[in-house]
Amino acid sequence: MKSRKWNFHFLLFLLIQFEGMEILPASILDLNALRKLEKESFDQDAWPLFDLIAVLTFPEVIRLKAMEENQMIGFVAGDPRPRDGWGWIATIAVDSRFRRRGIGTALLHACEARLGVPRSRLTVRMSNQGAILLYEKEGYQTIDLWKAYYNDGEDAVVMEKPL
Ligand SMILES: CC(C)(COP(=O)(O)OP(=O)(O)OC[C@H]1O[C@@H](n2cnc3c(N)ncnc32)[C@H](O)[C@@H]1OP(=O)(O)O)[C@@H](O)C(=O)NCCC(=O)NCCS
Repeated sequence: MKSRKWNFHFLLFLLIQFEGMEILPASILDLNALRKLEKESFDQDAWPLFDLIAVLTFPEVIRLKAMEENQMIGFVAGDPRPRDGWGWIATIAVDSRFRRRGIGTALLHACEARLGVPRSRLTVRMSNQGAILLYEKEGYQTIDLWKAYYNDGEDAVVMEKPL
């Protein structure tokens, strides 16, 4: 009885949080919206056009968009590597006007659920404490440090989560 009540409250919470937000598969038709989101979210780390086309077309890639009122407000891509036993969360971003509403977490969950591998991995700038907090909250742990991984010489934190 207690857990049923908890489930009801959790569902209510999700409904309130995500009212009007949908997570849908993305396609090449989302190129312009993704380009804008990437630029705004990643600045110097934004992917070049070729990588954006690749992430929207390569057959094995999982690509999901968060939509609200016909507008892309978030995006996540996953790269499953079944032979290695893990998959990479290749990119995740939420439009700055819609952050801290649980959309990043929802996108991450949706992508993890589709990876089809035992573990999920990602890299994040050491200074990106907001994202690191989100990943830690979601069960990721630091497994490595890649020195000077980013263009400006900043280190990448490599994190992993069992799925
Ligand atoms: C990282 C990002 C995707 C998070 O998206 P989001 O929709 O705001 O995330 P959520 O609302 O699901 O956050 C869940 C929790 O993570 C933590 N968190 C997320 N962003 C945070 C921030 N900027 N500062 C501190 N904690 C943060 C909080 O604990 C938050 O819960 P709370 O809001 O109840 O405190 C978003 O900030 C973003 O697009 N950043 C720019 C791109 C980027 O850095 N991507 C990650 C690259 S590895």
